[in-house]
Amino acid sequence: MTTNFIETSIQEIKETVKDKNVLLALSGGVDSAVCAALLHKAIGKQLTCVYVDHGLMRKNESEEIMSVFKDGLGLNLIKIDAENLFLEKLKGVTDPEMKRKIIGKTFIDVFEKYGEEAGAVDFLAQGTIYPDIVESGKNEDDVIKSHHNVGGLPSVIKFGGLIEPLKSLYKDDVREVGLALGLPKNVVMRQPFPGPGLAVRIIGEITKEKLDLLREADYIYRTEIEKAGLDIWQYFAVLTGMKTVGIRDGKRSYEYILALRAVLSKDGMTAYIAKIPYEVLENIVEKITKNVNGINRVVYDITNKPSATIDWE
Ligand code: XMP
Repeated sequence: MTTNFIETSIQEIKETVKDKNVLLALSGGVDSAVCAALLHKAIGKQLTCVYVDHGLMRKNESEEIMSVFKDGLGLNLIKIDAENLFLEKLKGVTDPEMKRKIIGKTFIDVFEKYGEEAGAVDFLAQGTIYPDIVESGKNEDDVIKSHHNVGGLPSVIKFGGLIEPLKSLYKDDVREVGLALGLPKNVVMRQPFPGPGLAVRIIGEITKEKLDLLREADYIYRTEIEKAGLDIWQYFAVLTGMKTVGIRDGKRSYEYILALRAVLSKDGMTAYIAKIPYEVLENIVEKITKNVNGINRVVYDITNKPSATIDWE
């Protein structure tokens, strides 16, 4: 199916785009990476990719994106630093859907500004996949979470048309297509990461201080899971908005509770908790609380989807 899919998609993309140009927002995630690789194969330099760094990425992620996609794959890739703007817009906002909407809107604003400066753009491409469409619902009442990578953009920006070559695929199929296109394994097998980034993993107001705490803790967690060689579909840390009393350096501390989440899933529509061995968990908790000044307690989320969603917000 993969070879067929790639051939048919390339043909369709070529027929649609002809000699025109295409703009793609690259997030570093699997979907937009595979979308970029597919388009690159079909139309080469007629594709321009823009990476909007919203400051809500994981540790070292922005640098990795530039090195993999620009230096490694040779994509025509432009990075826009928009951290301050996003943090400004998110100031004081605590409602999860409001956060998502603000991030989506700010993303559009940044993208639109780039579009104006870049001149005429004929087509916009997006790495939308099938579960994004299903979970974003057909009307307001169906929406579980508004994914900012669905809809939105085309109505605001003056593009000739929208290209979404992966919209009939599930995550596993997207990965197969990516591997068949020759993308590096570590890019294709990456865990899913939400478009709004760490903003949906910080409960309450988003601040630079909280982002930095979460980045450090999440990095330790991910590194230790990799070291332990566990095969888990998605695992990440969440900074709860709650502080509790603990002890640091022999004195009373009042610091955040961090939650660890790890799930097994096929497509993200349903998920089961991963049963990480207690020794591994204990080691992770010790490393996090010792090294991240600001987190003195860690809890482990053992809720399946449903009733919970995978990401907390
Ligand atoms: P939830 O949290 O809804 O997430 O159970 C299902 C899967 O989707 C990821 N996720 C997103 N992916 N844009 C995305 O591209 C988003 O806005 C978004 N929100 C959640 C989540 O990490 C999980 O893998």
